[in-house]
Amino acid sequence: MGYEPSHMETLLTRFAFIFCGRSVYKTFSDHLPLNGSEQVLDFGCGMGTVAYYVAKRLSHGKLTCLDISARWLKACRRTLRNCENIQFFKWESRVLPHESYDVAYCHFALHDIPDSDLESIIPALARSLKPGGVLVFREPLNEAEKIGLIKRLMEHNGLLLKDSRVTDIPLMGNALESVYIRR
Ligand SMILES: C[S@@+](CC[C@H](N)C(=O)[O-])C[C@H]1O[C@@H](n2cnc3c(N)ncnc32)[C@H](O)[C@@H]1O
Repeated sequence: MGYEPSHMETLLTRFAFIFCGRSVYKTFSDHLPLNGSEQVLDFGCGMGTVAYYVAKRLSHGKLTCLDISARWLKACRRTLRNCENIQFFKWESRVLPHESYDVAYCHFALHDIPDSDLESIIPALARSLKPGGVLVFREPLNEAEKIGLIKRLMEHNGLLLKDSRVTDIPLMGNALESVYIRR
């Protein structure tokens, strides 16, 4: 149960989603390189704040929502109850299928993960991308050391930086948004 959110956390996130969904989560979704037919992975989906907007962009594709928390996954199912072609995946076995996704993204998920776990998670994410596949993350800029580690692990695992920018996000402050391509 160590990774489960409190009821207060899920409630506050639902308020953020209701009142700031378009300015916080939709803006990230809008920048993902999607034409509608991709296989997409949301790593650390939480209650489906970003997935809700991504699902609307995938007319023929499939979205996999992954989280370590059963409570967040339950909330995510509720958020996406009217969406099709969604798969929910509890991150227990710590194994991702190889070369399966065109696009994977992590939205405010990596900065909370211990360094030793990131050392296995980022290689697994890199392997899960098809060649030429894209990995996008958005993480808070004040987590400088963690961002440094994330960047090193991306590069050591065959991911090339294609684009990077800093955005000022309502409620959350400055965040780094980076796009990597699998060689
Ligand atoms: C701050 S929340 C962000 C959720 C969502 N992406 C959003 O932006 O609303 C971080 C999420 O990462 C998940 N998470 C933390 N560690 C994880 C891990 N090792 N594997 C998968 N998910 C993890 C948490 O359960 C939580 O849902």
